[in-house]
Amino acid sequence: MRLSVIGCGYLGAVHSASMAELGHEVVGVDVDPGKVQALSAGQAPFFEPGLPEILQSAGATGRLSFTTSMGAAAGARVHFIAVGTPQARGSNSADLTFVDAAVDALIPHLQPGDLVVGKSTVPVGTAARLAAKIKDSGSGALLAWNPEFLREGFAVKDTITPDRLVFGLPADPEDAAHARALLEEVYATALAAGTPCVVADYQTAELVKVAANAFLATKISFINAMAEIAEVADADVTKLADAIGYDARIGRRFLNAGIGFGGGCLPKDIRAFSARAEELGRGESVAFLKEIDAINLRRRQRMVDLVVDALGGQVFQKKVTVLGLAFKPDSDDVRDSPALDVAVQLNGRGAHVIATDPEAIPNSIRLQPQLGFATDTADALHGADCVVLVTEWQEYRDLDPVALKEQVRTPLIIDGRNVLDPEAWRAAGWTYLGMGRP
Ligand code: UDX
Repeated sequence: MRLSVIGCGYLGAVHSASMAELGHEVVGVDVDPGKVQALSAGQAPFFEPGLPEILQSAGATGRLSFTTSMGAAAGARVHFIAVGTPQARGSNSADLTFVDAAVDALIPHLQPGDLVVGKSTVPVGTAARLAAKIKDSGSGALLAWNPEFLREGFAVKDTITPDRLVFGLPADPEDAAHARALLEEVYATALAAGTPCVVADYQTAELVKVAANAFLATKISFINAMAEIAEVADADVTKLADAIGYDARIGRRFLNAGIGFGGGCLPKDIRAFSARAEELGRGESVAFLKEIDAINLRRRQRMVDLVVDALGGQVFQKKVTVLGLAFKPDSDDVRDSPALDVAVQLNGRGAHVIATDPEAIPNSIRLQPQLGFATDTADALHGADCVVLVTEWQEYRDLDPVALKEQVRTPLIIDGRNVLDPEAWRAAGWTYLGMGRP
């Protein structure tokens, strides 16, 4: 099937390559010539495991191309909208400028029977507005909403073998049947493999996405709230999470306490959800999301306070090694990264911060050039007065406390992700501090 994907950022680049890998003929359209050039050469413009491989393999088949020209979308039967919906400047709402611009630019190239498929995360009500716009254009095209649940670091796998599919369809039964048939053709491989598919209206499909992210954020802030209590009660939140996680109704996943969530989705999505609920006169229904956000931001502060306390009340000119900058491992993304924030705050208090990360240094330099960086972990650790682990890359989990003790000035480690074994580190002579652990 011929598909176009409008917007080749994180979501669109992965979606384009994955759809081509599944056998579709895909053209990705983006306004950024640099991005188009990289993708056309089979290079991912960001770090994502598995993406370069499928860009190259799908590219070699001739089924995948990228362009800055919206005209190239003409002739595709399904057009995915995969542009960003960032947090608007000066407010908590989602900025829909890019979504509207993409649809406006696409409309002249649509043909009767084409399907425009929204994948971007949007406030509930957006799809109905866009559908009216497409209808009024007289193009004869239809709109469906098909939210995306991919996780960075697993984006290719999540796209090719999703946990579930959600199709938000037009209200008119004939239009809905047409849209559904096209979506079923697009996702034939996943559907044949038995992937559950929830068929709904636009507004439910839009809400599914924000509800899923709100739930995940709530789960993380819940366990971080328990960490705050564990800290004053001298209890261990990691054992608490194990114990409650064995209850299948609760589940252990997303119950890792630490310095909290970040990234391009969860923080801005819960804020936009609150803002939209307020617009709809139901702010109180999701008022708890403000608390989720507040708990989350407190964890970064807690980390900074732990460092300051552990260093005797002031960090001025103390060398603090920050292990990790990305908002999570297997990513070079530092958008709203708690790890980068901790590094910035410590630097702001006068610490001599040396931060390292396997992939996220270039993006961090762009945002926070005042920090000290070292690409080599051993260089970063040399002579440290305090080591903080803030992104749980495998190579930091695997650090050897015995060998490391020789490199630092003071064997003090603060594990912001609770991934190290306190006993092993203490046995090697380190002062080990975790988050919500005695
Ligand atoms: C998230 C959703 O998981 C995904 O379904 C949606 O499509 C986009 O947003 P992503 O932003 O890639 O995906 O990251 P995710 O794996 O959800 O992690 C988000 C943040 O939560 C990270 O900063 C991570 O470190 C943190 N986290 C996660 C915790 O602090 N504790 C946990 O137990 C799990």
